Amino acid sequence: MNNSRVLMTAVGSYLPANIVSNEDLSSFVDTDDVWIRRRTGIAQRHIVAEDETTADLAQHAAKKALTNAGLSGGDIDLIVVATTTPDNTFPSTATKLQHAIGAKRAIAFDVQAVCAGFVYALDIAEAMIQSGRGRRALVVGAESFSKLLDWEDRSTCVLFGDGAGAVVLELAENYNDWGILSSVLHSDGAFRDILYVDGGPSSNSLVGHVRMEGKEVFRHAVEKLAAVMDEALAAAQMDATQIDWLVPHQANIRIIDAMQKKMGMASDRVVRTVEQHANTSAASIPLALAVAVDDGRIKNGDVVAMEAIGGGLVWGAALVRFGKPY
Ligand code: COA
Repeated sequence: MNNSRVLMTAVGSYLPANIVSNEDLSSFVDTDDVWIRRRTGIAQRHIVAEDETTADLAQHAAKKALTNAGLSGGDIDLIVVATTTPDNTFPSTATKLQHAIGAKRAIAFDVQAVCAGFVYALDIAEAMIQSGRGRRALVVGAESFSKLLDWEDRSTCVLFGDGAGAVVLELAENYNDWGILSSVLHSDGAFRDILYVDGGPSSNSLVGHVRMEGKEVFRHAVEKLAAVMDEALAAAQMDATQIDWLVPHQANIRIIDAMQKKMGMASDRVVRTVEQHANTSAASIPLALAVAVDDGRIKNGDVVAMEAIGGGLVWGAALVRFGKPY
């Protein structure tokens, strides 16, 4: 039997300095603070500066995670960056990050699963570590999602923000109930038309803007996230009472509250950052995790449940006992 576990030993995050409030948005698009708060729970979002890129955000978050783990770039064997907003079509944001942090021997590549990118990247990194490709990984969610927004479309532009979060994964032997306890992913391209960006390199047009059927996405989110969380719990042979914290993808407070109720969790056991960050796509889970670890809510050894859904559709959930037993 394999006694190896992939621990999540540290987290770091970064938000661009520029904050845009709902009031700010209502000065140039037909919306208002009351509507946005009531329908989404969002009050503000951080937006990248003109000369700031996804790789910059990733670099800040990764450096903090490494510092928190007591490691440097040279200790890292694998870098997986989840992003839908890479600086360039190529090279990958991960290779830019690799160079910036001096992770010379790391394998580095990007993963594109939009808002589910972090749970996808986590699953891939765990599998690569378990298959012997290295002992330590950086898994990063980083987005400049504001670059994909149509600022005249009030049904989408109010929902998103920019930021980055990173976690350090480390292989450990003989700590069976620590680290990544289970991970489940799903995809269904039949729903590609309800959430997508028009345009792109092989579509004979420049990268376009986010297009979304909000109500449809909402419906799928609640249904699919509840189901995949049940699968992740079953895979770990656990039940929801054993979860210390739910750290969900931060898309809409109503989706988060619906998940909390479906899982029967106490409200104060759910980490909510959507009010301050809005939906930062692949960055939202590690950003929320960093907030709750930094403010002392999530402690070493706590069981954290994560779930996310994004365009594709793609979705997944992971259960992690955070930190390290030694
Ligand atoms: N400000 C003010 N009014 C707005 C608005 C805005 N920013 N955006 C839409 N509206 C209006 C609509 O035009 C509509 O007006 P009408 O009734 O006169 O036609 C009304 O508000 C209701 O719009 P609707 O789209 O039905 O609202 P909703 O309750 O479904 O909420 C979302 C819209 C986008 C907040 C919601 O559907 C949602 O969160 N969906 C999931 C999105 C998501 O999570 N995406 C990312 C997944 S990773």
